[in-house]
Amino acid sequence: MGSFKWINCFIIFNFFSFSISTNFLDEAKNPDVFDWMVKIRRKIHENPELGYEEFETSKVIKAELDKLGIPYRHDQVALTAVIAFIGTKKSPFVALRADMDALALQEKVEWEHKSKVPGKMHACGHDAHVAMLLGAAKILKEHEKEIQGTVVLVFQPAEEGGGGAKKIVESGALENVSAIFGLHITPRFPIGEVASRPGLVYARSGFFEATISGKGGHAAFPQHSIDPILAACNVVISLQHLISREADPLESQVVSIGSFQGGSAFNVIPDSVSIGGTFRAFSKESFMLLRQRIEQVITGQASVHRCSSTVNFFDEEKPFYPATVNNDELHKHFQNVAGNFHGINKVNDILRPSMGAEDFSFYQEVIPGYFFLLGMQDPSQERLASGHSPYYKVNEDAFPYGAALHASLASSYLLKLQQKVEG
Ligand SMILES: *[C@@H]1O[C@H](CO)[C@@H](O)[C@H](O)[C@H]1NC(C)=O
Repeated sequence: MGSFKWINCFIIFNFFSFSISTNFLDEAKNPDVFDWMVKIRRKIHENPELGYEEFETSKVIKAELDKLGIPYRHDQVALTAVIAFIGTKKSPFVALRADMDALALQEKVEWEHKSKVPGKMHACGHDAHVAMLLGAAKILKEHEKEIQGTVVLVFQPAEEGGGGAKKIVESGALENVSAIFGLHITPRFPIGEVASRPGLVYARSGFFEATISGKGGHAAFPQHSIDPILAACNVVISLQHLISREADPLESQVVSIGSFQGGSAFNVIPDSVSIGGTFRAFSKESFMLLRQRIEQVITGQASVHRCSSTVNFFDEEKPFYPATVNNDELHKHFQNVAGNFHGINKVNDILRPSMGAEDFSFYQEVIPGYFFLLGMQDPSQERLASGHSPYYKVNEDAFPYGAALHASLASSYLLKLQQKVEG
């Protein structure tokens, strides 16, 4: 009897997930949803806001949620986050996340909806993520009576270094949530394809800055100075030895110096030099060891050259991002939903892990989470620039896929949870 019931549920579940997702893509392609998503995305694109400054973006989101009759929290979670609810408003809860922040970058794409804010640009597609999550909200609202629990929409600030996800976790807003899904739009895959993998996806990541101080003077008489430039050069070289000589060659690690500032005249040795960079590893152990060794190498090399030094790891402003690790069960769920999704041609599930980082990992530290990539490259069009380029463009035709997948992943996951409880 028990097994018979389970089989029935299984068949019903498959039937539902298939029929619901078919409708979702058609619904998302309907101009009511599609044109609306495009309009919102362009509006946000014109007014990009950096991490924790997404006040206008939040207002746009809240105004649309109000029109849809979707309630959201009125307290200020993580300064600018919007946390909204669709469904029974009761357990179980499943969350969908979109990041909202832009980059400090001057847009070089000439188009009607170019960024109106000098030096700021949505060059990583977060404007598209917001639009697609709103698209999912609009679709789910239409099906609210069928939702077997509550879908929590998480519009998150400050993904680009600020760790907005960490603040949301700390606020307790996701306390009763059973699982969370997030996506990133990418030109790496064609439209109609998705990509992900179980387990490790992105590395653990941190930033550091060091100031190396000597004694400035006339460049013709180095014996009267203490040269911080030469000391800093040795620091940069020695830091690479941490990777080539101390890290296990079979365990990926990275140290990169992205900033080296010092001096302003050809014939003057400056007082000090500042360097800054990022370091990455997959395991927490390797990462913490790397952090410790970076500090030792900087202070040690500086002192070899008679300089003093300070090292800052920005524990508050730029918290270390944990590794992004996809839950195995959710991977199966994703494969099932995306694999049976009318309109998705390919589910690439052998994505290589990368040394990139994603603050989605803060959610995954406390609840099962799943992150995937959504293809947007139109093979018949020009090759789109990759993220963080001033020439970054988004193919808006990918929006229905993102919106429908979001809606489908969440609603079918809730259905699955309910069946587990009943079975
Ligand atoms: C989580 O559930 C508990 C028990 O029902 C409730 O007291 C609490 O307010 C819930 N937390 C959130 C963030 O909804």
